[in-house]
Amino acid sequence: MRYRMDLPAVLRGVNLDIPAGSRLAVVGRTGSGKSSLAAALIRYPGPGCTAGSLLVGGRDVKTVPLARLRRHIALLPQEPWVLRGSVRENLGGDACVDSDAWALLRSLGLADAVRNLPVEIAGSGGGLDGKLSTAAWSRGQRQLLALARAVLRRPAILVLDEATASLDEASEQRVLAAADNHATAAHCTVISVVHRVAIALAHDAHDRQVAVLDAGRVAEVGPARELTARDGGAFARLVQAHSAG
Ligand SMILES: Nc1ncnc2c1ncn2[C@@H]1O[C@H](COP(=O)(O)OP(=O)(O)O)[C@@H](O)[C@H]1O
Ligand SMILES: [Mg+2]
Repeated sequence: MRYRMDLPAVLRGVNLDIPAGSRLAVVGRTGSGKSSLAAALIRYPGPGCTAGSLLVGGRDVKTVPLARLRRHIALLPQEPWVLRGSVRENLGGDACVDSDAWALLRSLGLADAVRNLPVEIAGSGGGLDGKLSTAAWSRGQRQLLALARAVLRRPAILVLDEATASLDEASEQRVLAAADNHATAAHCTVISVVHRVAIALAHDAHDRQVAVLDAGRVAEVGPARELTARDGGAFARLVQAHSAG
């Protein structure tokens, strides 16, 4: 994959098999191509910039209409974005079912924060119609809300691109656990680009596979435990560098 026809390829010879409903953690140095891999999934950049094929559910994404593709693949970027407006608007507007939304907000630990929002529409009593004041919410809360928005769309694939990189550890655990819980309940595939090796290790318990990217290639792929034990392996080296501080 390249970003423009006249630019060099940023992903080369990437061959990954990600079973439906599984979790894959993607690690690698800055510039190794992690975000590009996520971009390739939603067909950004456009035609002519990719070679080879990328199959989702056995179907080449090139043949899937973009709007449909992006409905089924939710991408959660590093910077949480919230809309100026009500919680409901942030959760998909009219498509947002109150009972689903509240159940999810409770599981994310956001229900109280939403209940305490100032009233937007006279007589509405805050809640889902409360106006979101981004200043009053922490970055972690905003990322949880962004996750709620993504999850309520019931994507088949959830991609977290360093979505927790700027959060404190408690919020980070909360977002990752929420993504995992959702994935288990909805049989959703989760691909998470993680900045800290420790996270890939911690989630090994979930049978998560780890892929190490290096200069646009997949250097290694396998269960974290197995890769850690590989003498001189790419992941083992990352773990060592990490524990050396
Ligand atoms: N929008 C873009 N246009 C052109 N080149 C890009 C763009 N985004 C990333 N790149 C290049 O692609 C390579 C991989 O970057 P990226 O996928 O962002 O890596 P990572 O997410 O692992 O840090 C880098 O050389 C980067 O400069
Ligand atoms: Mg990136």
